[in-house]
Amino acid sequence: MSRIAWDSFWELGGTQAFGVEGRAAIELNEYWQKFSQTLNAESVLDLCAGRGAVGTQMLLANSRLSMYGVDYAKVTPESIDGNAAWEEFFSGFDLSKDQLERLGSYDICVSQFGIEYLHREKAFEHFSCLMKPGGRFNFLVHLKGGAIDTMASEKVKELEVLLRSGGVLDTAESFFMGRGSAGEVVHTIQDFIASADKKTKSVSGQVISGIEKLISMTREGHSSIDFFRAFKQRVQNDFQRTESMRHSAMSEDEALSYFSSELTTSVRVEYVFLRDCMEKVALSVRGQKV
Ligand SMILES: C[S@@+](CC[C@H](N)C(=O)[O-])C[C@H]1O[C@@H](n2cnc3c(N)ncnc32)[C@H](O)[C@@H]1O
Repeated sequence: MSRIAWDSFWELGGTQAFGVEGRAAIELNEYWQKFSQTLNAESVLDLCAGRGAVGTQMLLANSRLSMYGVDYAKVTPESIDGNAAWEEFFSGFDLSKDQLERLGSYDICVSQFGIEYLHREKAFEHFSCLMKPGGRFNFLVHLKGGAIDTMASEKVKELEVLLRSGGVLDTAESFFMGRGSAGEVVHTIQDFIASADKKTKSVSGQVISGIEKLISMTREGHSSIDFFRAFKQRVQNDFQRTESMRHSAMSEDEALSYFSSELTTSVRVEYVFLRDCMEKVALSVRGQKV
């Protein structure tokens, strides 16, 4: 998947992965804080760290850790005051292509909704050099059919409808290029709203209100085509990210075989639940390098 799609997500001010909000964010932050409190003054690498949601929670709970992060997007981690600062953050580093030896090796490797985006084959062999002998790993991965995957599946369907030929974005593009009328765009939006495919208010709401603002700009005599193209690109990036998230989601068995190898021992896969409703939100995969 394209790194640009992630650059644009973090540039637009995202601080957490898709779906990590509200109750899920509380639950997952607590998960990392609890884990962090079980550790000594050890070195930790947060893989596919994004803006460092995991490392930040771990440092807040245990300031003795030496925390490192890596991500291929152009990101800087959230800043943390005082003794609990990040040691180093490798941004723009592609874990599937760049030389992993450059990152060094660590007592603990962690990841939240990141590592499963990478290789589907021989995953552990690829990453094992990042762990010292006896080093441990703790990864939260997307769960197929879990709460976040279900939200993502609805979002993908909705974005597909918005982006398809003759759909809302296509009709709007013709209008902003001077080849159609605002009335046609409004008509397509009305059809979309009335259609049974519509799932979430937030995604369509943002797209539709963005288009409406650009139509007003055009009516006031401003050219909107460049703004529209940038806007459409954002929607396409969002589609690409959400789709690749869906492909990365794993079942319990898939996670077990993905992370088990001759180099690992004591691999355990468990569900992470939202406690108040017992809804499954992720898979936790823990183990050790032999
Ligand atoms: C769903 S986000 C998770 C970010 C963070 N762990 C969090 O929970 O907020 C997935 C992250 O994986 C990163 N990523 C995807 N493929 C990567 C690769 N090949 N190398 C390094 N990072 C990658 C993306 O840039 C993105 O920041």
